[in-house]
Amino acid sequence: MSTVYLNGEFLPKEGAQVSVEDRGFLLSDGVYEVTPAYGGEFFLLRQHFSRLRSGLDSLRIDYDPEELVEVHRKLIDKNGLTESEVAIVYLQITRGVAERTHYFPPAGTAPTVYAFAKKFQRPSMECWLEGFEAVTVPDRRWSRADIKSISLLPNVLAAQAAVDAGVDDALLVKNGIALEGAQNNLFAVKGGVLVTHPATQEILHGITRSVMIEIAHSLGISVQERPIQVEELETIDELFFSGTTTEVRPTVRLDSKPVGSGEVGPVSKAIYRAFRKEIGQPIDQDL
Ligand code: PDD
Repeated sequence: MSTVYLNGEFLPKEGAQVSVEDRGFLLSDGVYEVTPAYGGEFFLLRQHFSRLRSGLDSLRIDYDPEELVEVHRKLIDKNGLTESEVAIVYLQITRGVAERTHYFPPAGTAPTVYAFAKKFQRPSMECWLEGFEAVTVPDRRWSRADIKSISLLPNVLAAQAAVDAGVDDALLVKNGIALEGAQNNLFAVKGGVLVTHPATQEILHGITRSVMIEIAHSLGISVQERPIQVEELETIDELFFSGTTTEVRPTVRLDSKPVGSGEVGPVSKAIYRAFRKEIGQPIDQDL
């Protein structure tokens, strides 16, 4: 049985309960974070916490998450994930429990803090080397996609559109620009240059995205942070998504048409190899 953290206590998941008046439940009034642990060691935990802090500040939720660093460690221990190849900790902070009003609850209302840890199963290397598929979906999110808000309805609908189409990812398109995935960032490769949308308010500033950019620099691959026109995707060489639960996922078909050669390309492979090295995990000889 898994152990979760709720408002200062570690509890069996089945025993953890949140009020029906929680503003997360009633209004999606909160933020979340997902942090990976490789072999029990957190990867870029500080960066995840810094994004969390900035989300809390933007939403004016008065809570210092520092004590949750230790909670993250304990969740990995208590759930027997110290040896796990990949695990994640999901953390959610809402504005707390109060009578429903659209405006903020009375000062002093305690935020609700909930976290759980679980094993993450990455696809097999054979599967990765075959590549993945995606569909384009209109981006119907609000204008602050940089805040990791728990209000994910447009992402949920986009992810389901991908499931309905029998593919792996949904690529969000707004005003003719391919922004990012429903749960990951987007990278295109054109003429050896890596292109990704700039870190504006229209996308989530993925922690994995920044690792991709650093890796590209270290491999001598030029990076352009600029909007990607959706029509450009017809002439690019490679496409991949990045994210905590995506890692690096090469897309070889988009809207049922091949991307580039229709096979996983050399830049995606080189970046994934370097990423595996960065997270301290073995690199498959086929990669
Ligand atoms: N999703 N873009 C969106 C819309 C996301 O939801 C995510 C993460 C990312 C990648 O961010 P990072 O590299 O920091 O994980 C980009 C998480 C994992 C989720 O919703 O479960």
